[in-house]
Amino acid sequence: MTDMDHLAWQDQYALGHGEIDQQHRALLSLLRHLRQAIATSVDSTTIENSLQEIVNETLNHFRDEEKLMGGSNYPGYLGHRAAHQNLEAAMGKLVATFEADPASFTLETVAALGELILHHICEEDQPMVQFLNAPDATAATEGKLTAASLF
Ligand SMILES: [Fe+2]
Repeated sequence: MTDMDHLAWQDQYALGHGEIDQQHRALLSLLRHLRQAIATSVDSTTIENSLQEIVNETLNHFRDEEKLMGGSNYPGYLGHRAAHQNLEAAMGKLVATFEADPASFTLETVAALGELILHHICEEDQPMVQFLNAPDATAATEGKLTAASLF
C-alpha cells in the first residue's frame, strides 16, 4: 500500500494551537473509527451513531473556534463562519444520505468527508491560528485571510 492514510494524524495538521489541534486530532480519530466500522460492516445503528458523533463533535468544535475568533476580532471571522455553515450543511446531507440508504454510505463517502475537513483545517483554520497566535504579525495579510472559501 503506497497511498498515505490522510486520516492518520500528520505533523502538517498541527497548527500550533493546543485546544484546536487536540480537537482536530479527536475528529480524525472519530473518522477513522467510522471508517473501521464501515470496513467491518458493523450494524447500521452503530455506524449511524458514529456518524452522528462526528457531526456533534464537529459542531462543538466550530462553536469553540468561533468563540476564539470572536474574542480576538479575527478579520476573517465571517468568511470562516460561513465555511463552517457550509460544512455543517454538507454533513447534514451525508446524514440524510445515510438515513435514506445506509448501503450508499461507503468508505469513499468517509474519505470525501475527511477531505472536506482536512481541507478546512489546512486552508481556513491555518490562517486563523496564525492570527490567534500573533494578531499583530498577521494583520497586514488581512486580505488573504478573508479570501472566500471554496466550500
Ligand atoms: Fe474552522
